[in-house]
Amino acid sequence: MINKAKFPEGFLWGGATAANQLEGGYNEGGRGLNIADVLPGGKIRKTVRQNPNFDYTIDKETYTYPNHEAIDFYHRYKEDIALFAEMGFKTYRMSIMWSRIFPNGDELEPNEEGLQFYDNVFDELLKYNIEPVVTLSHYEMPLHLVKEYGGWRSREVVTFFERYAKTVFHRFKDKVKYWLTFNEINSGLKIPLYGLGFHIQKEEDKYQPTFQAFHHQFLASAIAVKLGHEMIPGSKIGCMLLYAPVYAYDSNPENVMYALEEKRLFNYFCGDVQVRGKYPRFINQYFKKNQIELEIHDGDLELLKEGKVDFISLSYYMSRTEKKEKSPEEHGAGNMISGIKNPFLQASDWGWEIDPTGFRISLNELYERYEVPLFVVENGLGAYDTVEEDGSIQDDYRIDYLREHIQAMKDAIEDGVEMMGYTSWGCIDLVSASTGEMSKRYGFIYVDKHDDGSGTLERKKKKSFYWYQNVIQTNGEYL
Ligand code: BG6
Repeated sequence: MINKAKFPEGFLWGGATAANQLEGGYNEGGRGLNIADVLPGGKIRKTVRQNPNFDYTIDKETYTYPNHEAIDFYHRYKEDIALFAEMGFKTYRMSIMWSRIFPNGDELEPNEEGLQFYDNVFDELLKYNIEPVVTLSHYEMPLHLVKEYGGWRSREVVTFFERYAKTVFHRFKDKVKYWLTFNEINSGLKIPLYGLGFHIQKEEDKYQPTFQAFHHQFLASAIAVKLGHEMIPGSKIGCMLLYAPVYAYDSNPENVMYALEEKRLFNYFCGDVQVRGKYPRFINQYFKKNQIELEIHDGDLELLKEGKVDFISLSYYMSRTEKKEKSPEEHGAGNMISGIKNPFLQASDWGWEIDPTGFRISLNELYERYEVPLFVVENGLGAYDTVEEDGSIQDDYRIDYLREHIQAMKDAIEDGVEMMGYTSWGCIDLVSASTGEMSKRYGFIYVDKHDDGSGTLERKKKKSFYWYQNVIQTNGEYL
């Protein structure tokens, strides 16, 4: 299918991953444990992470831990990057694992082996003219900071993060220009363990500690933005939001108001602070209503103003439909933000509702509110793949999903939205974040690794590999 609308010249096409979901090598290179290492694989992951008595120990007798080996990018990055280059990637979004650089998080000196590993990865990318886009923290906080400091509840962690950011900016200043601070920062509202490094053990933890932890992350992000600008001339530093437009279930004004409240809190609160550099009025009202009193030190609010991000990056998988009063049967499945089932939408095998128009709506909403460039750094379909007898993987369902979403992004560009790039999620199969499964595959590249840990780790090109190669080659003209 040939389309008329055009993507801008220099549009950054590529793929995205996170260190904890693909690297493996969990006890190699002087690396410390991080929060993802103690989360078991399979649907049990959710139960474990929600258990108020979860003590972060690894119990190999009872559970499997797929992140420990993952897809072994740690040893195979050259082969994988060569495949990315063959697809024509202009960019690759990845994360640096904090616990490879500072194994416990609170050391004074970094781990040289960890720095060297990322030096090698960046060199390999640059060899193929692939521009790295690097997330500083993607659901992989050093476990020691979680256990000893209560994650981002503690203001001390801001200092540790500053040291980490300064270290990697200094080391990689000539190799990396695009940086993201915290992956899906707003997800901390739904799964604080991943984003904020603690879990809600008691009901009273829900408000005060959560928003205090957010305040600390906002400071850390602002510090990183300032430092990055000073240390890396020409750098561009973005925030990263999990975005899903919130639809009211119907035109009942009560439901419309409820959807608006959900949208403000989940979709706009973090972006407002990171892009506009200040707490929005609605959140101050929300704080009052819920008796939240943030501990704000002198200079904090100025710092937020000085550390505004240059662009917004986002993930988009699905939309969310909301109703004020809902019964448990109405609930949809989904990533962290599922509302109730939308009768107009089909869902993936994991119940995530597929909504390309919701993607166009999201891009319009974000651009209209902030007027800064947008970078889509996650989007894709998690699905079961079958290897045919001839060894091929005919993933037409993935191609259909991506085609419709890329078309929606093109439509948004026609609507006037300024876009920097698109990196589809899990460009190579990796461990899923929510369920710790290998069978939930997103990649253009198949990896022979299974939920029970078996597999040769051999890489195979799926049908979508060739399709995406064509999309990039024609700058999105061929879909
Ligand atoms: C995003 C995360 O929420 O969704 C990724 O940033 C994650 O880390 C992706 O992998 C897809 O979710 P899942 O649970 O299917 O892996």
